[in-house]
Amino acid sequence: MNAWERCGRILRATGAIVTAFLLVFFLRPQLQRFRFRSDLSWYDLGIYGFGPSRSYVSFEEQSLLVEITPRNAKCDPRYTLLAPRGDSVAHPGPMILDARGELVWMKSDSATTEDFRIQRYKGQDYLTYWEGGKVDGHGCGSWYMLDSAYTVQYIISPVGVMSGDLHEFQITANSTALFAIYDPIPADLTSVGGPQLGWVYDGVFQEVDIETGELIFEWRASQHFPPNASYQPLGDQGHERSSAFDFFHINSVDKDDQGRYLVSARHAHSVFYIDGVTGEVLWTLGGKNNDFEDLSNGAATGFSWQHDARWRGVNQITLFNNAANGDHREEKISHGALIELNLTNRSAELLQTYHHPQELAAVSQGNVQVLDSGNVFIGWGHSAAYTEFSPDGDVLCNVHYGASAYFQFGRIVSYRVTKGDWVGMPDTLPDVALAGDRAFVSWNGATEVRSWQIECWDGFSPLQNMTYLAVGQASREGFETEIALTANVTSYFRISALDANDNVLGTSATMMRATGAGRRILLHVNWSLVTFGIVTCLGLAVGLYFAIRRQVQHRGQSATQMYWAVAQEDQAGHTLDFIPQHRSVNEA
Ligand SMILES: *[C@@H]1O[C@H](CO)[C@@H](O)[C@H](O)[C@H]1NC(C)=O
Ligand SMILES: *[C@@H]1O[C@H](CO)[C@@H](O)[C@H](O)[C@H]1NC(C)=O
Ligand SMILES: *[C@@H]1O[C@H](CO)[C@@H](O)[C@H](O)[C@H]1NC(C)=O
Ligand SMILES: *[C@@H]1O[C@H](CO)[C@@H](O)[C@H](O)[C@H]1NC(C)=O
Ligand SMILES: *[C@@H]1O[C@H](CO)[C@@H](O)[C@H](O)[C@H]1NC(C)=O
Ligand SMILES: *[C@@H]1O[C@H](CO)[C@@H](O)[C@H](O)[C@H]1NC(C)=O
Repeated sequence: MNAWERCGRILRATGAIVTAFLLVFFLRPQLQRFRFRSDLSWYDLGIYGFGPSRSYVSFEEQSLLVEITPRNAKCDPRYTLLAPRGDSVAHPGPMILDARGELVWMKSDSATTEDFRIQRYKGQDYLTYWEGGKVDGHGCGSWYMLDSAYTVQYIISPVGVMSGDLHEFQITANSTALFAIYDPIPADLTSVGGPQLGWVYDGVFQEVDIETGELIFEWRASQHFPPNASYQPLGDQGHERSSAFDFFHINSVDKDDQGRYLVSARHAHSVFYIDGVTGEVLWTLGGKNNDFEDLSNGAATGFSWQHDARWRGVNQITLFNNAANGDHREEKISHGALIELNLTNRSAELLQTYHHPQELAAVSQGNVQVLDSGNVFIGWGHSAAYTEFSPDGDVLCNVHYGASAYFQFGRIVSYRVTKGDWVGMPDTLPDVALAGDRAFVSWNGATEVRSWQIECWDGFSPLQNMTYLAVGQASREGFETEIALTANVTSYFRISALDANDNVLGTSATMMRATGAGRRILLHVNWSLVTFGIVTCLGLAVGLYFAIRRQVQHRGQSATQMYWAVAQEDQAGHTLDFIPQHRSVNEA
């Protein structure tokens, strides 16, 4: 062995040791975040990726590919609303899925969407969500209300401050809106070991009239609680306005029919009941100012980093007890909780807990919804799962929309997940795409379609005013339906959406099926443009033919089928010029 070989060996050995060192010291914290359990499915282990998605032929966005296990017939058959986001989400934004996990509607967003829900306002259902940018764990944005055609009807902004926070947008029984705001203000932080001239994010909520935008009520945590009511470590925050200390962190506000507010403050580990006129704190459940005797040995008031406190009847509340915050763990697992309060003698008892079958911890986010059936529905926030429980805490249905072995990495999350009834009537046309002898049809957001009807041109009515004959029908299968085109679909055809009573809800653009040489071409044009195009192409072709006929040996291509989509008047009577094949709703 010569000196060079020896030197090479030493270099390789050193390289191996350095690599091992790097693996142990740098990857170990990452490896600890993997969650391997014996009950993980292939989906949970990530064979479809961290955030599995599925694509469509007739629709360009990708939606979630979920895994449902178990699935129980007793589960609420209504729609699921969530707003997936994270590095492993193909197209983040608000999304509606049906009980089978099939896509119903989605809107792909460049901004962040959170708290996507269905709420009632003046007797009508709206899709509501917050949209904006995120800073330091809170939001800077506005709240949106979409009607059943997916048109934005209201955009709501807070009064007197720049921007609204993502955590809450609640429409009250009196047609007002309640929402949270994180407002940086100067504060003395000496009680938490910070500067005397420091900054906190004040925990603010407002109630405003949706129609007029008028402020009805405002409450500020700084007027009732000192910074040391917080469990949040100060860290290096609080020195500047732009990095204020988030001592309170409001994440839910609700108003009851006595006109009082129930508020959850995550960083105070407390739920507060607030007088609707004076703003006085009537009582505090949990945290450093707890007013309640705990009849459950600390389990009723010992929640921490919680979300989504709501009344259930007059003396019970539900909340999502995260018991964890980032890498900081109070308990190993998170759960939904049902707590009974006796407001006469100020006692609290934990009646029921709801645990994920894989004992998940949600290090942030999450919510609890009591359904009309009494079942309890939980969105696991930072962990990409939602679960429906019987009132007694038995798991009925459990859905994962990310691989659970990697939930700690937060590659796909949804702040809240809820269920609700929804009727969607989009003001777009159904989308059709053709592949071989098959048509693929979908209609983003149309909830009432039960079947698709294939309609062919009768062969003799004028092209400007075509008459169509129904030649076949296919029942709707999930978001996208694949239809084999029969032999009697010969030239121009279109596909109409039918409701349960066979009424036409909408009709696609006209397509053309033809055999002949050439490639697949999809066009939406008006007839003058077609004529212009044909004349231009003919002229070009003739010119080209004469130019190259002596130089190039032309080789014919094998015959394939050619498809066209041609101009069509939409329902409003406007001719659609070059509409893209896939129109997304509400681009305005
Ligand atoms: C908070 O700080 C004040 C003094 O600034 C002190 O009186 C009070 O006891 C402290 N509260 C807690 C819960 O530490
Ligand atoms: C609705 O308004 C009435 C009259 O102002 C008030 O008494 C009641 O508390 C309000 N309820 C809610 C939920 O805002
Ligand atoms: C609340 O406690 C008081 C005093 O112990 C008792 O009289 C009352 O019945 C309790 N209320 C409920 C709803 O249990
Ligand atoms: C308060 O009322 C509950 C029943 O609601 C009872 O179990 C508890 O012992 C009472 N506590 C006191 C201090 O009276
Ligand atoms: C289109 O055709 C129908 C009958 O097929 C006729 O009633 C109607 O007047 C026509 N419209 C136009 C603009 O030609
Ligand atoms: C078209 O073809 C299908 C199957 O080949 C047949 O069931 C249907 O009745 C035909 N429709 C018409 C209008 O000829």
